[in-house]
Amino acid sequence: MKSFRLACTVNGERVEREVVSSRSLLEFIREDLGLKGTKEGCGEGECGACMVLVDGKAVNSCLMMAVQLHGKDLVTIEGIKGKAGGLHPLQKTFMAEGAVQCGFCTPGLIVASEALLRRKPRATLEDIKLELTGNLCRCTGYEKVLSAVEKARDEKNA
Ligand code: FES
Ligand code: FES
Repeated sequence: MKSFRLACTVNGERVEREVVSSRSLLEFIREDLGLKGTKEGCGEGECGACMVLVDGKAVNSCLMMAVQLHGKDLVTIEGIKGKAGGLHPLQKTFMAEGAVQCGFCTPGLIVASEALLRRKPRATLEDIKLELTGNLCRCTGYEKVLSAVEKARDEKNA
């Protein structure tokens, strides 16, 4: 099978790896890099559990091939941190609001919310709802997730 020398940035660090052309970005993240915070739910672009930031944009890593990451900047949930490496504001508000139950969807929800708040720091509730339509949660009922994102937005803008 054809392989390719992939060079990219992962959570701020330069990474070079040999990857086969059929490897998905999700497989590369979980199996090759060992970053298990990115989850595999549906494997077909429906649930958002595998969401990561590529050049600052939220993407479903199950739908992207690893070779497409060449020359790009990848941030996974492990790279989303607060000041001095502590908890990120979204992680704090998700905990405070009780927006996490089993936690399977949480990395994807935080990645999607982070992408939105970077792009649109004063995102409205409607913006947040729209952004998170690609992230399915079978546990929380979404209300707590929405209020956690609103609180993180407000803290960021305070
Ligand atoms: Fe990628 Fe569900 S695992 S969208
Ligand atoms: Fe369980 Fe969202 S907290 S799927």
